[in-house]
Amino acid sequence: MLQPRAITYTEKGAPASVLRVKTLPTLAAPTTGQIRVKFLLSPANPADMNVVEGVYPARAPSVEVDGTAHSLCGTEGVGRVEAVGEGVRSLRPSDWVVMGRSQLGTWRSSALLDAASVTKLPASPALTPVHAATLAINPPTALRMLRDFTRLSRSSWVVQTGATSGVGRAVIQIARAMGVHTVNLVRERRTQQQTDAVKEELKALGATHVLTNEEVVRDSKRVRSLIANWTQSDLPLFLNCVGGQETTEVAKTLSEGAHLVTYGAMSKKPLCIPPGLLIFKDIKSVGFWMSKWYAKSSAEERSAIAGEIIQLIESGSLTEPPHQIVSIGGHQTDQQATQTLRDALAAQANGGKKILFEMEDS
Ligand SMILES: NC(=O)c1ccc[n+]([C@@H]2O[C@H](COP(=O)([O-])OP(=O)(O)OC[C@H]3O[C@@H](n4cnc5c(N)ncnc54)[C@H](OP(=O)(O)O)[C@@H]3O)[C@@H](O)[C@H]2O)c1
Repeated sequence: MLQPRAITYTEKGAPASVLRVKTLPTLAAPTTGQIRVKFLLSPANPADMNVVEGVYPARAPSVEVDGTAHSLCGTEGVGRVEAVGEGVRSLRPSDWVVMGRSQLGTWRSSALLDAASVTKLPASPALTPVHAATLAINPPTALRMLRDFTRLSRSSWVVQTGATSGVGRAVIQIARAMGVHTVNLVRERRTQQQTDAVKEELKALGATHVLTNEEVVRDSKRVRSLIANWTQSDLPLFLNCVGGQETTEVAKTLSEGAHLVTYGAMSKKPLCIPPGLLIFKDIKSVGFWMSKWYAKSSAEERSAIAGEIIQLIESGSLTEPPHQIVSIGGHQTDQQATQTLRDALAAQANGGKKILFEMEDS
């Protein structure tokens, strides 16, 4: 009988040190309202790492193995339904599902889940496993932030930090599909050639202009005047997942009543806003958390937003994020699999493509 495997931890800390691959007890048949899911691919998002580090306001579920509680990781992923329990009418074996709730422990080979906690994906030839595994968090975050704070029209401008991130790339592409222009900030690379390559890559996705954080800080007056010139001083929305000095400088280019929406803190630096921007320009500094949107949404709303993202994929407007697949094979011992995992995490610590886990039962 095959046993599921999961990436787990028993104490919080640096992911590359505390995470391990653990074989879990054999799954029982799904009971009433449950489904058995085989996870096809599950991304490792920054928030997942923050949960393991103990710096994210979310609680991981846990499973007991040999008398020890193992916390399960992963919020996003695509699974294939393998079996359904009594009373499950909306799903059948071979359907693909994504998670409708956070913290379901997606870094697993297979699992029993409540049918009500997942969203069924419509069959679509355009939907690759990578698209399916990454469509429930980053693209909807981009879509909601572009829609929910200010009314953007064709030719409006949006500025963002962290433009190379999964969310940032989705912002660029969805904005382009809306006819909205973007000013994008990225981190400088080691060489000018590498920095230029990143700028060109984002422009190919639809970015209107790309600047580096470093040039914004180094030459803030010139950059502010450039942005004012591009946008004709009409810049109503700033999407920020980085913080730090570059965010402060760019906030100064926002127009009267604009929204500065913070949804991440990749630099781990504080967000500093000159008081004059709040007092005299009425800039609204707010936060956004997709998990909260999901917690409040109905099953219909969750299906609808997944449907919108799939349409963007089908129309060619949204591409797969750059990624690397880390496979945990069924033939590996837990120890060997843990080494594979830790090597991949250590290699990724200096930046790189998003990791997607592909795990087999043991
Ligand atoms: N609030 C929400 O609902 C929500 C939803 C989704 C994501 N998020 C947040 O959004 C952020 C991006 O997530 P993601 O999944 O899109 O990311 P991702 O694809 O994994 O990419 C990580 C991004 O962070 C940048 N980065 C890494 N370390 C940095 C540092 N020290 N200073 C500045 N930038 C740094 C990387 O830039 P390089 O290319 O230069 O390495 C890259 O752009 C995370 O903070 C995540 O928690 C929030």
